[in-house]
Amino acid sequence: MKVLETTRLVLRPWTLEDVEDLYDYAKDPRVGPNAGWPPHKDKEMSKKIVESFIKAGDVYAIELKFHHKVIGSIGLHEISKKDEFGVMEQREVGYVLHPEYWGMGYITEGVKAVLSYAFEVLHIDVIWCSHFEFNERSKHVIERCGFKYSFTENKRLNLLEKQEVKCLCYSLTRGEYALLS
Ligand SMILES: CC(C)(COP(=O)(O)OP(=O)(O)OC[C@H]1O[C@@H](n2cnc3c(N)ncnc32)[C@H](O)[C@@H]1OP(=O)(O)O)[C@@H](O)C(=O)NCCC(=O)NCCS
Repeated sequence: MKVLETTRLVLRPWTLEDVEDLYDYAKDPRVGPNAGWPPHKDKEMSKKIVESFIKAGDVYAIELKFHHKVIGSIGLHEISKKDEFGVMEQREVGYVLHPEYWGMGYITEGVKAVLSYAFEVLHIDVIWCSHFEFNERSKHVIERCGFKYSFTENKRLNLLEKQEVKCLCYSLTRGEYALLS
């Protein structure tokens, strides 16, 4: 993973030293359930997740530049191709942020950096992003980043007692991205 830098953030690979920081926000019930996973019960669970991030190599740790503290994550995941865009190279972006840092624009800043890297350096054709119907904060991030609404699907959240939710899916093509700025 290439380290990405913004005005206030460093987006970099996860390390085992980040377990405490992950647990600090992943234990909060406002975080995981909005993204499809349960709050972490203990640090051991956070350690397993950090290990899975390291293995997958597609999730950035969001580090506050001048504090060296990890306050969230942004993933750029490979996905199975959605028919609408046929054979094009597609990815999905996902993110979470420590609630103490909500309302400061950090996620929008980080996602914009990932979009720039994905479109301009990796030459990805289409990036997807989605939010559950009740997740207004995530909806605003998606809109601020320029994604366009595509479709809604019903999802069963296996990690959250098979809760059923409506998931709104958005896409952004490289061409649309080029017209944004
Ligand atoms: C979704 C989530 C990441 C959004 O966090 P957020 O803090 O609202 O998003 P941003 O970091 O982009 O901050 C945007 C807010 O900061 C404000 N802001 C303050 N300073 C800013 C700055 N310098 N630049 C941009 N925005 C700024 C914006 O006006 C906006 O405020 P608003 O929400 O009142 O409109 C967060 O709520 C979260 O982690 N939720 C739980 C997990 C989750 O839902 N993940 C997504 C699953 S789809």
